[in-house]
Amino acid sequence: METISLARGIPAPECIPVEELADCARAAIERDGTTVLSYGPVGGYQPLREWIAERHGVEPARVLVTNGSLQGIAFLADRFAGRRVLVEAPTYDRPLKLLAARGVDITVVAMDDQGLDPDALEAALAAGPQPAFLYTIPTFQNPSGRTLSTERRRRLVELAREHDLLVLEDDPYGLVGFEGEPPPTLFELDGGEHVIYSSSFSKTIAPGLRVGYFVLPQALDDELEAMAVSTYITPVLIGQATVFEFLRRGNLEPNLERVRDLLSARRDAMLEALERELPSAAWSRPQGGYFIWLELPREAVDVPGVSFVKGTDFGGAPNTARLAFSYVSPDEIREGIRRLAAAVAEPVGV
Ligand SMILES: Cc1ncc(COP(=O)(O)O)c(C=O)c1O
Repeated sequence: METISLARGIPAPECIPVEELADCARAAIERDGTTVLSYGPVGGYQPLREWIAERHGVEPARVLVTNGSLQGIAFLADRFAGRRVLVEAPTYDRPLKLLAARGVDITVVAMDDQGLDPDALEAALAAGPQPAFLYTIPTFQNPSGRTLSTERRRRLVELAREHDLLVLEDDPYGLVGFEGEPPPTLFELDGGEHVIYSSSFSKTIAPGLRVGYFVLPQALDDELEAMAVSTYITPVLIGQATVFEFLRRGNLEPNLERVRDLLSARRDAMLEALERELPSAAWSRPQGGYFIWLELPREAVDVPGVSFVKGTDFGGAPNTARLAFSYVSPDEIREGIRRLAAAVAEPVGV
């Protein structure tokens, strides 16, 4: 029996626009080869930096384009090593590991179906030394699929102002919404004073390009650029120039529409299968992104024939799990949930 992966938070192969990217990579090298195949500015390929800056209404100098957005999170973790950092629980496991490895004192802040709880944030702010920053994924969160309500976004931005709190808004999934208008970003609500915005082309074009970015306050941008120079000299300009060519051709919106259709069919298949097979459990109902958060009536255990990530990896309770609907087909999702339900219906330890 082949294992069905509901663990991998990666796009299904058909989400990746392979042909178009092959063409964009060739065009990027032909047009600007001596630039993109050489060492260059550490802040990123200038035309892409300008495109991102315009999209977010800032000067290009405040944009740092990194080799995937996780790289930028690693730089921030280095910059604030040993300090106190607030994170919502559950949260994406890789930043948790990056922060822990740098001796950061991590304070968890509770969330519910509407995202991070502002009262819990206020209590956490009062309960210890001034944190270096709050790390949050407000839209289609990894791992829970939840989205912070607009009202709470306003409250969070107010709290950031009142407490002079720096917020890292990690938003790789915001453009991958299946229905309705996405809520305003924290960055938009705040005007970019207390909020660092980070996003990525991993979910909107292709993760293998390794193109992520940060919109930073100027002083922090300078500091992180210095770290980037001493880490990799120049980011992967060929990946960035390929992304820029893809954007320049107007391919982003049509690609997003295609990807949203592929992913929302998978989300629907998973929700329907859960409804049918696991009535004793509870789960989130994401309106975008890659993940559903499952709460079982018992502890999550390894299940033969289907893989998923236990919620404890993300700081969740032992009865929780992250199910990714992004990677396998709708049929495989239905079969995977059937296998999961058959196993968790057994008593613990069997
Ligand atoms: C919330 C979140 N942030 C950052 C990343 C990393 O993205 P990138 O491929 O840009 O490094 C991911 C990838 O899954 C993610 O889920």
